[in-house]
Amino acid sequence: MEPIKIALNESDIPRQWYNLAADLPTPMLPPLGPDGNPIGPEMLAPVFPMNLIEQEVSSERWIDIPDEILNLLYRWRPSPLRRALYLEKRLETPARIYYKDESVSPPGSHKPNTAVAQAWYNKQFGIERLTTETGAGQWGSALAFACQLVGLECKVFMVRISFDQKPFRQMMMSTWGANCVASPSSETNAGRKVLEEMPDTPGSLGIAISEAIEQAVTDPSGKTRYSLGSVLNHVLLHQTIIGLEAKKQLEIAGEKQPDVVIGCAGGGSNFAGLSFPFVADKINGADIKIVPVEPTACPTMTRAPFAYDFGDTACTTPLLAMHTLGHAFIPPPIHAGGLRYHGMAPLVCQAIVEGLLEPRAYHQLQSYEAAVTWSRSEGFIPAPETSQALAAVIDEATKAKEEGKEKVILVNYSGHGLMDLTGYDAYFSGKLTDYELPEEELQKYTKDLESLPKAEARKSGKW
Ligand SMILES: Cc1ncc(COP(=O)(O)O)c(C=O)c1O
Repeated sequence: MEPIKIALNESDIPRQWYNLAADLPTPMLPPLGPDGNPIGPEMLAPVFPMNLIEQEVSSERWIDIPDEILNLLYRWRPSPLRRALYLEKRLETPARIYYKDESVSPPGSHKPNTAVAQAWYNKQFGIERLTTETGAGQWGSALAFACQLVGLECKVFMVRISFDQKPFRQMMMSTWGANCVASPSSETNAGRKVLEEMPDTPGSLGIAISEAIEQAVTDPSGKTRYSLGSVLNHVLLHQTIIGLEAKKQLEIAGEKQPDVVIGCAGGGSNFAGLSFPFVADKINGADIKIVPVEPTACPTMTRAPFAYDFGDTACTTPLLAMHTLGHAFIPPPIHAGGLRYHGMAPLVCQAIVEGLLEPRAYHQLQSYEAAVTWSRSEGFIPAPETSQALAAVIDEATKAKEEGKEKVILVNYSGHGLMDLTGYDAYFSGKLTDYELPEEELQKYTKDLESLPKAEARKSGKW
């Protein structure tokens, strides 16, 4: 029997995070303030603690992981790399498929990798309370868990549609001591304004972000900060522990390098976490296909323009250069709640502009089909977000079979779906439909971008 679970010891855990910003052939465009000029780190200070802002703007290639954070991570890290041998057999593919299992963390996804780091840095900085938003509930529960470990209060604004679809996620957050409300809520100006205009809105991550930032920056004690579960450079940085571990594990499995690296992308953090160490190899000449996957209902990377836009609906964040469907975009209520964000991590977007990545979009039904094939061969039931990546894995494995090639496919198994079974129920009872964002909708939402500064798509032309 070939080994199908490749484990690392605690002593093998990476001791530094990898920062792609140091190696991008063409640097990212800077975030801009309301006057259209690049912002300085001090402008972020009401929102984030300075120790995280330093990471946000850092161009150091390697950043040390404090021992205290490693001590928090040992609960589930290093996470296993598994070989999807049973799926390979079912598909009769010559490809070898490996999945980095991030579903083993206590909240069930990759999100705690950054949640514990962010909670720890905030605590070090003297902060007492964190606010945040959550889509599917994975991020909210990860931050609730992390705040409990380090001793911070935690307030979560959960996108209405997920709040209704996923009551068990709310219960997890309460178990870890957090306070979770549906967004838009009547607790903030941003929430009240949306409720007045659209009382029946399913909500969006953009709205929930506005609410969480407003509560953080209006706390008169100055002891509240905001925490974001994706998109920003420091979040992606913390997630690179995934790819750094996977590299060691592939080596143990006897693989020189993957041919294809795949991850689903909502704000880009799990995809970046797995892939960035391999993007570095690609920059240095390796031949690797690197694929971020998104839903056709929210086609940020595959159809939206590269432009400066706000990260939230109320336009309170700095302008970020990214692929964006427009900050007013209200995504249709697909079940992959964590993939419904209007923008994408600027680091991921610059790598797309550079030609280093090959983004792809999948329909909801094909993703559920992939999830069921996966569950019936590997056994583990994936999160709806993860299923998008698995659809791409099955496509790549099928292609390898057609071509008769022994490819090595590596995918991020970003979370389990045990809290998302209502989506499976809807799929089995035929209630789910495919949705492709109509061109008129895309044009309508991206029209607002015309009045904002233009983002130049700069690239070296090597890829
Ligand atoms: C299981 C899972 N995978 C992926 C994502 C997408 O987020 P990101 O692109 O930041 O990894 C989410 C977001 O909630 C998630 O819960």
